[in-house]
Amino acid sequence: MSKTATLTVDGNSYELPIIEGSENELAINISKLRGASGLITIDPGFKNTGSTRSGITFLNGEEGILRYRGYSIEDLAEKSSFLEVAYLLIYGALPTQAEFSSFQEQITHHTLVHEDIKKILDGFPSEAHPMGVMSSLVTAQTAFYPESLDPNRSWDAVNLSIIRILAKMPTFAAWAYKNEIGHPVNYPDNRLNYTENFLKMMFALPAAEYEVDPIVADALDKLLILHADHEQNCSTATVRVVGSSQASLYASLSAGINALWGPLHGGANQAVIEMLEMIKADGGNIEKYIAKAKDKDDPFRLMGFGHRVYKNFDPRARIIKKAADDVLGKLGVDDPVLEIAKKIEEVALEDEYFVQRSLYPNVDFYSGIIYRAMGIPTEMFTVMFALGRLPGWIAQWKEMRENGEPIGRPRQVYTGSTLRDYVDINNR
Ligand code: ACO
Repeated sequence: MSKTATLTVDGNSYELPIIEGSENELAINISKLRGASGLITIDPGFKNTGSTRSGITFLNGEEGILRYRGYSIEDLAEKSSFLEVAYLLIYGALPTQAEFSSFQEQITHHTLVHEDIKKILDGFPSEAHPMGVMSSLVTAQTAFYPESLDPNRSWDAVNLSIIRILAKMPTFAAWAYKNEIGHPVNYPDNRLNYTENFLKMMFALPAAEYEVDPIVADALDKLLILHADHEQNCSTATVRVVGSSQASLYASLSAGINALWGPLHGGANQAVIEMLEMIKADGGNIEKYIAKAKDKDDPFRLMGFGHRVYKNFDPRARIIKKAADDVLGKLGVDDPVLEIAKKIEEVALEDEYFVQRSLYPNVDFYSGIIYRAMGIPTEMFTVMFALGRLPGWIAQWKEMRENGEPIGRPRQVYTGSTLRDYVDINNR
């Protein structure tokens, strides 16, 4: 028998259906509550509000579980590749060899971007943040592929938009960086795989040999897998809400990139390194910064600590911490900033303030350190996150469309003035 919850307000009872997820998660369905009672629910920051039923990613923050389509993040990070994970997220199953070859071939075929993209790039000042450049270039796709404006077109047309953006995003990311440093852009090299091709476009210099370091390419591939999806986070919820208005895939993804940019979300990886650098420049006094983080009158927060849903540990942070040790060891990088990070982690994990609030290092605490070791500049960190999150955003957008979800439109509790008379400007 299906479960229900009873809500009693002013002596009136309302029976509310409870829906159950495949991992036995329970949710009270309040969608008809307003019609029956005039009541709405309120939950700023949607801390306890489910916005959808989704079959893509399962996350249990208490137990530190993360799975894409049922596969554990640990297994995928160790055994899969980013492109295979992208396929899994978007199409729902791991590909056969034939499916994967065809997918890879299509992606490779579309890596090149329209030459006029360079004119758009030229319009940006060289100091433009690459996240802003990238989100603009993604929206600009609607101009080059106007048919992508209509998300109701045939599946083949929608799928072509998906393939195009997966293929071109590394090109946009690398070009946004080249624009920032004032270098000529590199064209995609279709002999290389997804990650290698990106690294070459990022780092190859004119008239110079460039060999992709396999250690760097492997580590990057793993990082992209770890970032590929994370259910209904700020940027993904943004993509779904924007897409629910039937805005195009590219407009929705561009909105997601902008949502990711903030330091409380994807921008945290940049903020972590900036914070560690600041602590280092200030003599490495970790206790001082731990005290600042705990002081409610001080806006300073320990960047890379805490998570809305992980209240035990972030499974991605575990994998990434090990990868950071591995990569830095293999590349022979001795980074004093890593030492500071390790000490902060040690101190914070023992500190009552952090323990009581379940504040643990999140994925971004270590990702910046690996990116640094790879030679990726700080302002590109969030771009790397966006590159990784792209298949997740696409899968969530696609699912939202397939579910036929209604336009996202929350309600509010109004707290402004009640009705008052208009006063003429001369009498105010
Ligand atoms: N440093 C110090 N105190 C913190 C931190 C932190 N990093 N994070 C949370 N707290 C404290 C809060 O002050 C609050 O304390 P209180 O209960 O005494 O008022 C308590 O812990 C709960 O924090 P909230 O802000 O209510 O938690 P919320 O779930 O809203 O925020 C967030 C989560 C945004 C991730 C927060 O922990 C934070 O700002 N962390 C630093 C930024 C960061 O690393 N973001 C990356 C997130 S992961 C990602 O997007 C990939």
